[in-house]
Amino acid sequence: MAVSRKLAAAQLSVAPARLIQRGQRLPSSTCSFKKGTQAQACVFIIMTELTPVNQTTVHPALPDAQTVTSVKHWTDKLFSFRVTRPASLRFRSGEFVMIGLMGAPDPKTGKQKPLMRAYSIASPAWDDELEFYSIKVQDGPLTSRLQHIQPGDQIILRPKPVGTLVHDALLPGKRLWFFATGTGFAPFASLLREPETYEKFDEIIMTHTCRDVAELEYGRTLIEDLKSDEMMQELIGADHLAKIRYYPTTTREQSGRMGRITTLLQDGTVFADLGIDTINKDTDRGMVCGSLDFNKDMMRTLEGFGLQEGANSDPQHFVVEKAFVG
Ligand code: A2P
Repeated sequence: MAVSRKLAAAQLSVAPARLIQRGQRLPSSTCSFKKGTQAQACVFIIMTELTPVNQTTVHPALPDAQTVTSVKHWTDKLFSFRVTRPASLRFRSGEFVMIGLMGAPDPKTGKQKPLMRAYSIASPAWDDELEFYSIKVQDGPLTSRLQHIQPGDQIILRPKPVGTLVHDALLPGKRLWFFATGTGFAPFASLLREPETYEKFDEIIMTHTCRDVAELEYGRTLIEDLKSDEMMQELIGADHLAKIRYYPTTTREQSGRMGRITTLLQDGTVFADLGIDTINKDTDRGMVCGSLDFNKDMMRTLEGFGLQEGANSDPQHFVVEKAFVG
């Protein structure tokens, strides 16, 4: 089909080998890939002995450093950013990695430790960069600093992706439900841009519950852009993108649709709104990502419809992201 032809035909373009000095920042645009590329490679020749280096000006490079390529602030509490992708990093859409920054020096020893948190990768597996969607906690050890990153800055990214929100952990079905609150939208930003999602299911229902309308904007824009973007139409197919049904709700600010998704499922409002009978284990599959309480309540709600939780080693009817803490 068109998608796999496109992926297969994607050409790898590698920047010419270049000389960099020890201690010099790696340039953000050293690797360039066409959209749809799965393979990636970078070539560096590191000058060590031949280049005189003034040791007093050399700062130790961050371990697993990646360079920020863009940052977008959505509200005073939410932002998204993109970073370069390590050449060796392979992941399945929906997985997460550990990212962070170097912590402040210990007052006694002067040593710095990395400050790391689990972040769902919001970009799909085929993208040449990695995208993340984050809250800003003003006194949070990591996000109080991470929110100030700028293009060209470096972050630490441990290239060991894991996670349960993957297609492999679900049995085949007809309808796929994505249930998110807040920044729990991130793994679905990846899966909504993943061709496999549309190849495996006839209908994709993206529910997103936030306190305020502005907090829905990242997801709303992503879906709108996905449906109107020519490249995505070519890559995923306009007929496949038409399978998305977006169901946003707010709980505090007045909007077109109010209420927690758990309540709206339990009282049948969602089904009436979407013209669906109910959720049942023969046809429906679910993925859940939000706060701990939300995850627990959604588990109970889906189990109430007769669905069973699955895992990579035991695919079932729904999966819940265990690492998410946003
Ligand atoms: P509510 O405003 O009724 O608490 P938070 O920012 O606290 O993580 O919440 C994000 C969104 O998720 C809010 O709209 C919130 O609704 C909703 N939410 C929080 N906990 C639950 C839960 N246990 N079940 C369903 N929705 C929840």
